[in-house]
Amino acid sequence: MATIHSGSAADLDFLADILRSGGLVAVPTETVYGLAAHALDAEACRRIFEAKGRPAYDPLIVHVASRVAADSVATFNAAAATLAERFWPGPLTLILPKKACVPDIVTSGRPTVAVRVPAHPLMRALLESSGLPLAAPSANPFGYISPTTAAHVQAGLGDRIGHILDGGPCTIGVESTIIDVRDATDPVVLRPGGVAIEALAEALGRPVRVHQPAPKPGAGLVEAEAELAPGMLERHYSPRTPLELRAAPFTAADLRTPAPGIVRVCFSRPAAEAAPDVRFLSASGDAAEAARALFALLRDLDGAGFERIVIEPAPPTGLGLAINDRLRRAAAKSART
Ligand code: TXA
Ligand code: MG
Repeated sequence: MATIHSGSAADLDFLADILRSGGLVAVPTETVYGLAAHALDAEACRRIFEAKGRPAYDPLIVHVASRVAADSVATFNAAAATLAERFWPGPLTLILPKKACVPDIVTSGRPTVAVRVPAHPLMRALLESSGLPLAAPSANPFGYISPTTAAHVQAGLGDRIGHILDGGPCTIGVESTIIDVRDATDPVVLRPGGVAIEALAEALGRPVRVHQPAPKPGAGLVEAEAELAPGMLERHYSPRTPLELRAAPFTAADLRTPAPGIVRVCFSRPAAEAAPDVRFLSASGDAAEAARALFALLRDLDGAGFERIVIEPAPPTGLGLAINDRLRRAAAKSART
């Protein structure tokens, strides 16, 4: 089992030392917990891939304390500067040309790097006390549901890592939005997440394209997608219990009909009487609250012995797009690459 640290000044000094000497620390962020290592130490980063069972072609996000620190790993253009100014610290990751100091293992050999300034106060304190850029993917075994508490990290990786910094439950609950802003005239969202796409378009004063994954495995298309967003595997975030994402919301009649062995998850609290084993993500139908609840609920249901989880889509705006993206991947039957 890993040691769980509460984030006292002594804890932060101790964990900063571990990071400086090439070790791994699971860290809280406002989105999900990450598994961090010194981003400029290739050997330390190799340990992240090993602990997660993550394939080498899936690059890591580099977390930094400030915009100034971001300049030392990535080359900014005007659009990137605008987004950083508006959304950092926060759940937005920028894909930009990398600087030479970033090792190939972090970027899976790409000329680009993913960079963000996280908002969680303990993560910020650790970035500052270590003085390091920290590479960190979500702190889950590759392909499983991302962790939003220290206990989730302990359950998934506790036998493979030594230290977890406990920052409480994540306040956003889904990963950062990833946007490729290398071409300022055609910004492309590679992964919807904690910053709404509408807010990005508003900040940039132009429409923002959302990269659409190829509909079905097919050699050419899979390669094209892998080229653009290597980690965007079709199957991801998956519980062990089969999960089905409905095309449309449940009707009141659906929810009155019992469905033995199946747990049904609504976006908001059903208005009318429902059969047993109907859950919801947010009583009031608030997308931010639903996002915060999503991964913990999927984990609970995964351990509850149901044959199947059937979930309705979120309304497709704001954080609803990130929720639907995770559900679509959680429901996918097989890896694409
Ligand atoms: O909220 C988050 O982003 C969390 C917290 C810990 O910061 N991190 C996270 O990391 O979700 P991860 O590794 O689970 O997902 C990051 C994704 C990768 O799957 C990869 O596809 C993409 O970021 N990525 C990283 N570097 C990239 C690059 N140079 N080009 C394109 N995609 C990149
Ligand atoms: Mg992940």
